[in-house]
Amino acid sequence: MKRFEQAEVMGKLPEQFFAKLVKKVSYYVEQGFDVINLGQGNPDQPTPQHIVDALKDGADRPDFHKYSPFRGHGFLKQAAADFYKREYGVTLDPEKEVAVLFGGKVGLVELSQCYLNQGDVALVPDPGYPDYWSGVAMAGATMETMPLRKENDFLPKYDELPETVLNKAKLMFLNYPNNPTAGVATKSFFKETVELANKHDILVCHDFAYGAIGFDGQKPVSFLQIEGAKDVGIEIYTLSKTYNMAGWRVGFAVGNETVIESINLLQDHFYVSLFGAVQHAAAEALNGPQECVDELVDTYERRRNAFIGRLNENGWKVESPKGSFFCWLPVPDGYTSETFADYLLEKAHVVVAPGIGFGSEGDRYVRAGLLTSEERLIEAADRIAKLIIDN
Ligand SMILES: Cc1ncc(COP(=O)(O)O)c(C=O)c1O
Repeated sequence: MKRFEQAEVMGKLPEQFFAKLVKKVSYYVEQGFDVINLGQGNPDQPTPQHIVDALKDGADRPDFHKYSPFRGHGFLKQAAADFYKREYGVTLDPEKEVAVLFGGKVGLVELSQCYLNQGDVALVPDPGYPDYWSGVAMAGATMETMPLRKENDFLPKYDELPETVLNKAKLMFLNYPNNPTAGVATKSFFKETVELANKHDILVCHDFAYGAIGFDGQKPVSFLQIEGAKDVGIEIYTLSKTYNMAGWRVGFAVGNETVIESINLLQDHFYVSLFGAVQHAAAEALNGPQECVDELVDTYERRRNAFIGRLNENGWKVESPKGSFFCWLPVPDGYTSETFADYLLEKAHVVVAPGIGFGSEGDRYVRAGLLTSEERLIEAADRIAKLIIDN
């Protein structure tokens, strides 16, 4: 078979760190061990029935069997605008300030293609969601990292970033509630972000993937709730986590209309928009009954309490996350995130994601997802604590 020379960009794509982890886990599963997998970020609950029913109805509609409008159906953009009004009090022009996406990941990667040239600089959180790196690499741009540390509540400290870097930066990615640290943003942090973006002409992309998941009665803040945010940025929202629709591939970008236009223009060349029935079901998710979201957040909160509570009871004092469905656990002395994750897998058959996979600042932590039942989480906490406390 001929092997064709690939475009240079293919060699620049970052390694898929977590593919290695999946292989290791499969080995233990195949050996018949009772593995508790807290390593992934895939919601474990089904999509609420009324949304599935809307998809079924949509599938019966011949008008949806045709090409969708290039930039998505008006009813979905309107639903996204209504959702933002209801949830955050943010007014959006559905035609100019909403772009329909095949999931958040796609929008995050596209944005770098829209705004970064070879040699440009993008600011990314460290640790952070690896897809920011993919988009930056595809554009041939470089990344400068913004460390997220516990002492700063996992928010970047802008005054510690060198002025030269801030002056060069064109784009910044933020994500709260945060994957992987579970940190949450405050309004004052977002205000600071708007000021910084104005001062240094930086386009801000706030990835709001876990926007629905805040604990202890605290609703996560939307970046667009901050005055002036639309001037400097966009927010990317996905239905993957809020409505357990990760497999459906639907989300949207909202905010600055020139940025939304750029995303739409790029998408005009890549795709025709999502299947109409998926858009119909997504609109139903956004504006149909919302009890399912409250129930989901309660479920994650109960799981958090069970898991973290049990680790603490067992003598391993760790902090409780305030949002997202992740726990960011510090690695005991003498381990790196990878050796600790390997140790837990080998000795406790519990899978966690090594923090190094999210950036060098992550190497003192592992990430555990609250994506299995309370019973299994308690069992995992017992197995982990037994190893750590007994040794
Ligand atoms: C921080 C963050 N952003 C974006 C996404 C992308 O979600 P999706 O592409 O399913 O919308 C994820 C998914 O895990 C995520 O964790």
